[in-house]
Amino acid sequence: METKRAALEIVVPLGPVEAIPLGQGRTYVVDGRAIAVFRQRDGQLFATQNACPHRGGPLADGIIGAGKVICPLHGRKFDLKTGVSVEGDYAVQTYPVRMEGGEIILTLA
Ligand code: FES
Repeated sequence: METKRAALEIVVPLGPVEAIPLGQGRTYVVDGRAIAVFRQRDGQLFATQNACPHRGGPLADGIIGAGKVICPLHGRKFDLKTGVSVEGDYAVQTYPVRMEGGEIILTLA
């Protein structure tokens, strides 16, 4: 996987968007970090750390919709834009992600 470094950002192409079915998430390991990338049913992309900060549940396997993901282990719900849990007790790191020419482009700061 080729990475480009610009200033302190790492821009990483992750491959075709079709690799993530609508309404699901997938895990990518980038720069030693496990990143969950979500493709909402409306096509919007989101990216967060994969490990839930509660007890490490794999967020990429969670249920997504309405800009939120529900952790598959204990059901905490995280806002995919802010990373903050609905309960306000935990937060996940979020990452800018976009689609360019049918490819997922992730930016790590
Ligand atoms: S590990 Fe995610 S809610 Fe417990």
